[in-house]
Amino acid sequence: MDNLVDPVRIAALLASRGSGWGGPARWVASTPSTQDDARQAAAQGAPEGAVFVADAQTRGRGRQGRAWVTPPGSALLASVVLRPGLDAPRLPPLALVVGLAVRDAAARRVPGAAVAIKWPNDVLIEGRKLAGVLVEASIRGTRVEAAIAGFGLNVREASLPPDIAARATCLERHGATDLDAPSLLVDILVGLESRLRLFVRDGLAPLLPELRAFDAARGRRVSGLDGSGVASGIDDEGHLLVQTDHGVIAVGAGEVTFDPTGPGHE
Ligand code: BTN
Repeated sequence: MDNLVDPVRIAALLASRGSGWGGPARWVASTPSTQDDARQAAAQGAPEGAVFVADAQTRGRGRQGRAWVTPPGSALLASVVLRPGLDAPRLPPLALVVGLAVRDAAARRVPGAAVAIKWPNDVLIEGRKLAGVLVEASIRGTRVEAAIAGFGLNVREASLPPDIAARATCLERHGATDLDAPSLLVDILVGLESRLRLFVRDGLAPLLPELRAFDAARGRRVSGLDGSGVASGIDDEGHLLVQTDHGVIAVGAGEVTFDPTGPGHE
């Protein structure tokens, strides 16, 4: 498989930003899933920061067994090997950490748009999905041996199946002028590296102000597996806090939907 983007360019861009991640980077035209590419590399000892990118995936996957479908060349599809050295129970909030890095890099390209995090793993603009995050881990004993942080970020307008098109958006639609995928990737990696360092050292606490500032659910009526109520924030273990009629519950897994009739609806 030939590299579409010179790995040396990625490494140089990372180094110019003071990153300790030097790749390797592999960028191919098509692959079944960059998650699998990264996972195989991790199993063979790839270091933290090794990144696998594709212009298209034939078996891209999202959370909860869903397929992740993007027309070739329209999205940044990447998976990066992480070696956080954490005990497995500390891992779940990592999807939020990755989401913050993706959100920040996207927001810098569309300064007029409100780019938000939808717990636990989506990045939204005006309620439509700009990006999704998928974290998969290999665990040995109680330790995380490697975590594969995958993200798909919609960059350019593309023809999508109607059900997906109705819920999706992209950077181009919001007037982004810089759609250069390698520099977008490097921005995300640099932002992830610094947030990951904080997360590994101190947990989610240092990132809570940023999460609060960009929490799409806060103040909105949400429904999920555990019932419904008004989202009131994210705690330092990465749970979504929901004020219900019976008190505040901390939702640790799953997804929530926004109730369009509830408070906070735009
Ligand atoms: C979701 O919103 O459900 C998560 C979507 C994650 C998609 C990305 S695209 C790059 C990487 N490779 C995959 O097969 N999935 C992730």
